[in-house]
Amino acid sequence: MAKSMMIVHTLEELFPARRLLDGPVGLVPTMGFLHAGHISLVQQAKSECKSVVVSIFVNPTQFGPNEDLASYPRNIERDLHLLEEAGVDIVWMPTPEVMYPAGYQTWVEVESLTRPLEGSMRPGHFRGVTTVVAKLFNATRPDRAYFGQKDAQQAAVIRQMARDLSYALEIVICPILREADGLAMSSRNTYLNPEQRQAAPVLYRSLLAARAAYEQGERSAEKLCQMVKDVLSTEPQAQLQYVSCADYNTLAELENVSGKALISMAVFVGKTRLIDNIVLG
Ligand SMILES: Nc1ncnc2c1ncn2[C@@H]1O[C@H](COP(=O)(O)OP(=O)(O)OP(=O)(O)O)[C@@H](O)[C@H]1O
Ligand SMILES: [Mg+2]
Repeated sequence: MAKSMMIVHTLEELFPARRLLDGPVGLVPTMGFLHAGHISLVQQAKSECKSVVVSIFVNPTQFGPNEDLASYPRNIERDLHLLEEAGVDIVWMPTPEVMYPAGYQTWVEVESLTRPLEGSMRPGHFRGVTTVVAKLFNATRPDRAYFGQKDAQQAAVIRQMARDLSYALEIVICPILREADGLAMSSRNTYLNPEQRQAAPVLYRSLLAARAAYEQGERSAEKLCQMVKDVLSTEPQAQLQYVSCADYNTLAELENVSGKALISMAVFVGKTRLIDNIVLG
């Protein structure tokens, strides 16, 4: 019989439960309202680790003052059911008070990698992300931690943080799971009304147009970004916030693509902000 899943909230509950796990231990950090993208991370963790811990925490410190913290979608019962089916050992659901008790004053900040792209559009976002992920690592002591390539800059920032802070763990980045029409899975897709949902696959189509041009030999970053813009402009519901063609490792903007490159974008469809990316080379 499969072991039953432990659900813990406080550190006092988590620590003894963690000590009982057989290693290697995999950690999958999430904000809940789980979809198949999250479950693919859990499955990857299951395939590589003896035990799997999933955290569900809508981290207030990574939301800006005008962002959607209050309305962020939640469905804990459904999440727990999916995680139990996936064979997770521990689900840790801390409250904000567990993570940030009164008087909290310690922050983790990665410097230049967090400046461009998402960091420039969402000031303070990555400081919240790296702080909470460091705390999740410290509390769960995983051997491997699993993140999605959908959040490409986050993946790079977490890798940097793990290196810089000497974490004895491996960061595993998993591929983007997409809906059948190409839309990258995201909890925030639930905000889209039917008309917006129909329009949203234009993000991926625009990235595929750039990839096709790259495969035909186009190397100018400006021209590749222009292809993205041209496809997006055919969809009146989509408002581009930024598109970037950057070095895959440093995230520095490129003039010409020579090595591995990341084309990434943020697009508003109505009030919903969607991100997506594609890797070239
Ligand atoms: N479509 C996807 N494919 C693979 N991994 C994903 C996908 N969507 C999210 N992830 C990963 O799941 C982890 C938890 O992300 P999170 O809970 O923020 O979900 P989300 O779908 O990104 O939600 P939101 O878009 O509202 O931020 C992150 O490492 C994220 O990169
Ligand atoms: Mg997310």
